[in-house]
Amino acid sequence: MNENSMKEKIEGIVKKALDSMNTTNSLDTLNEIRVAVLGKKGQLTAVLKGMKDVPLKERPKVGQMVNDARSSIAKTLKKVKEKLERDQLEQKLAMEVIDVTLPAKKAQVGKRHPNSITLEKVEQIFIGMGYEVIQGPEVEYALYNFEKLNIPANHPAKDEQDTFYITKNIVLRTQTSPCQVRVMEQGKLPIRMLSPGRVFRSDEVDATHSPSFHQVEGLVVDKHITFADLKGTLAQFARELFGPEIKIKFRPHYFPFTEPSAEMDVSCFKCTEKGCRFCQGSGWIEILGCGMVHPHVFEMCNIDPEEYTGFAFGMGLERIVLLKYEIDDMRLLYENDYRFLK
Ligand code: DAH
Repeated sequence: MNENSMKEKIEGIVKKALDSMNTTNSLDTLNEIRVAVLGKKGQLTAVLKGMKDVPLKERPKVGQMVNDARSSIAKTLKKVKEKLERDQLEQKLAMEVIDVTLPAKKAQVGKRHPNSITLEKVEQIFIGMGYEVIQGPEVEYALYNFEKLNIPANHPAKDEQDTFYITKNIVLRTQTSPCQVRVMEQGKLPIRMLSPGRVFRSDEVDATHSPSFHQVEGLVVDKHITFADLKGTLAQFARELFGPEIKIKFRPHYFPFTEPSAEMDVSCFKCTEKGCRFCQGSGWIEILGCGMVHPHVFEMCNIDPEEYTGFAFGMGLERIVLLKYEIDDMRLLYENDYRFLK
């Protein structure tokens, strides 16, 4: 190989490299060209390796040519690379451009759940009458949930169809009434307590049932407490909760842990006793169960029923919420649909 044919070859490599570098618009292709020409196994390196076939005195010249070619290609490589990178950046910025004239997205602020609002209202009413709010366990001894409340062994509520049993002796409480026993057993008298909380029953979900809902329990124990105290207290409660014009009515009922027992209805505030969908045409709506604490329950808690009397009541919180908010499906309270809660 002589100097001239080497020159031709080198020029050919340079021309081809410059052409393809100047026409590409991809950084990847650019890099491929760099490897193919300047790389360890590249075309220019191959030329250097072919130097042994060049006559000795021509070698410096050929070497110089290769170096020139190398630097010219490197220069173009750098220039094109910078341009492509600039283009790429501009493209990226153009894509990420922010339209500052767009209206901002409204941040959605949470609201309190109707259950919480209603429970707080109920608590405030009773706190105002001197009651203390206490919490009992949701996982409860069957003994407290049933036997100590005078609920006999063969009572249908104990049936596994209604009660979630954890073991034979431990249940998910089916009512908040066991809190009565827990407070009375502590033996600090008199008692004026309110105990709200979650209760559990193995019911199917429908518009008026759920396997888990909330009750609010109340208990008053003192000397000389009578049914008149019960009536006066609950009447005052109903007026504060539903409005001063509300009427109340007690219907005799049966609960194992109270004697006598009653259910309390309030006059339908929707139709004022004419009868509507809310009160199922009767003009009255049942809101709680109540009664005078059964002497046997007192005895099981070591309280002397000759000396002390008391009344108790229990209401379903969701029922009150549905009435207050005029909702007719309990599921709405649990599904946490933002549109509803709003
Ligand atoms: N625990 C009863 C229930 O779940 C409600 C109840 C009725 C509670 C009368 C009471 C009461 O304290 O005196 O149906």
